[in-house]
Amino acid sequence: MTNILCIGAGYVGGSTIPIVASHCPQHRFIIVDINEERIAAWQSDDLPIYEPGLDEVVRRTRDKNLFFSTDVNRHIAEADIIFVSVNTPTKTFGRGAGKAADLQYWEKTARQISENSSFSKIVVEKSTLPVRTAEAMERILNSNGSGLHFDVLSNPEFLAEGTAVRDMENPDRVLIGGRETDSGRKAVETLVELYANWVPRERIITANLWSSELSKLVANAFLAQRISSINAISALCEKTEADVSEVAYAIGLDNRIGKYFLRASVGFGGSCFKKDILNLVYLCEHYGLPEVASYWEQVVAMNEFQEMRFASKMVASMFNTVAGKKIALFGAAFKANTNDTRESPALEVCRALLEERAEVIITDPHALENARDDLGELAARVVFEPDPYAAAKGAHAIALLTEWNQFAELDYEQIYGSMIKPAFLFDGRNLLDHSKLYELGFNVYPIGKPALTHLHAK
Ligand code: NAD
Ligand code: UGA
Repeated sequence: MTNILCIGAGYVGGSTIPIVASHCPQHRFIIVDINEERIAAWQSDDLPIYEPGLDEVVRRTRDKNLFFSTDVNRHIAEADIIFVSVNTPTKTFGRGAGKAADLQYWEKTARQISENSSFSKIVVEKSTLPVRTAEAMERILNSNGSGLHFDVLSNPEFLAEGTAVRDMENPDRVLIGGRETDSGRKAVETLVELYANWVPRERIITANLWSSELSKLVANAFLAQRISSINAISALCEKTEADVSEVAYAIGLDNRIGKYFLRASVGFGGSCFKKDILNLVYLCEHYGLPEVASYWEQVVAMNEFQEMRFASKMVASMFNTVAGKKIALFGAAFKANTNDTRESPALEVCRALLEERAEVIITDPHALENARDDLGELAARVVFEPDPYAAAKGAHAIALLTEWNQFAELDYEQIYGSMIKPAFLFDGRNLLDHSKLYELGFNVYPIGKPALTHLHAK
């Protein structure tokens, strides 16, 4: 039996390790966190994150070969392998503020491992980190004066929220980076063996440490770049009566382009895309590559443009004022099937509408609590309503901002009947049947497609 520890019980630690545990009953897994409330929630029936299928996996493994704890030091002492999945947000202070990764949680963990270890261990970077972080990690770990040797591996996580269980069960690839020394190669092989319990060998790829660390930032940058590219085209479509879905379909059939991640939207959100691209931008600047830095920075700039363009279109369409108008936001989560609202475009649109003095009411099946927390002081000016019918009642407009299936299945005839006229619907995800909504009487504004409006009938 191997003792496997994961430090950080957030979205990544909490949704990956239970799945590893379910496939490796021969090993013992502990997930620790300094956040007592979070650990208590992982031990309860009400898990701290909403992730389809995760409840079932946690129920099957918890208290069998999977345990949650706040006793970080004790479990570090016992562990043979330590995954580190603490948060690495964008730095908000000092050098690199607004772009560089804030590595304070990361470094604290490295020191804690060093101080509480009495035998050698494998330490796995699961968090997303700047390229060459493992070098600093090795220095901290191997300088505790005890003569212990730590092998640091990079094993970035590629799961997407909302599909985390599926992505972990059946990953496109698992990437493991390590040192090209005897002990480094042995450590890599140990991790390969762990994943081989359920992942086909050909999908477990190995690389040098720096390629592995950098590949994670680059994967997110490329994915986000595709969204910004199609969103840029959506703006042009709205000016030219081209339809962005038809354009995306037509170009996506070219195998060299591919069909995924070409859904135009109100913008990409989530805790990682913006943070990781800005980190990449910072690294390029640091290494004296300003042209490369500004190339990638545009992906984030285009996303901000898209979010603000959406909010401005709402104001412009509603006779240039939304002050005092009730606007129902359908969705708070940054995408469907998660309760995560970090960097959610829905909240950006909410902030812009509050700035215009609209009365905002938000509905979401799972993310209202996080939305309230993320909005901070502004939350006092927003109504949070779990029932979409109640949210839309008496509203001048609906803005659909998260592509929850539930929103596609609503009775829009009933909703239209309960709204102030003229009733507006802004579909920031192109989720709904726009012609049908138009026939019901709505003025419909999709993304990257001609608006369907009764206001300027020729
Ligand atoms: P998160 O904020 O949800 O969780 C991080 C957890 O680490 C928190 O619960 C925090 O309390 C804990 N923590 C911080 N310092 C600690 C310490 N010293 N000891 C014990 N616990 C500590 O973050 P997340 O979304 O799980 O992301 C974690 C990392 O994984 C980030 O680097 C992120 O970029 C990366 N990542 C995230 C996703 C995702 O979908 N969210 C996907 C791939 C990679
Ligand atoms: C993303 C990556 O997909 C994961 O591989 C990566 O591990 C993760 O970031 C991370 O490092 O955190 P995630 O942010 O959970 O995963 O979700 P995505 O499905 O990538 O969606 C991100 C945002 O882009 C969402 O707001 C989504 O609505 C938007 N999106 C996605 C679009 O607007 N259009 C698309 O075609 C696809």
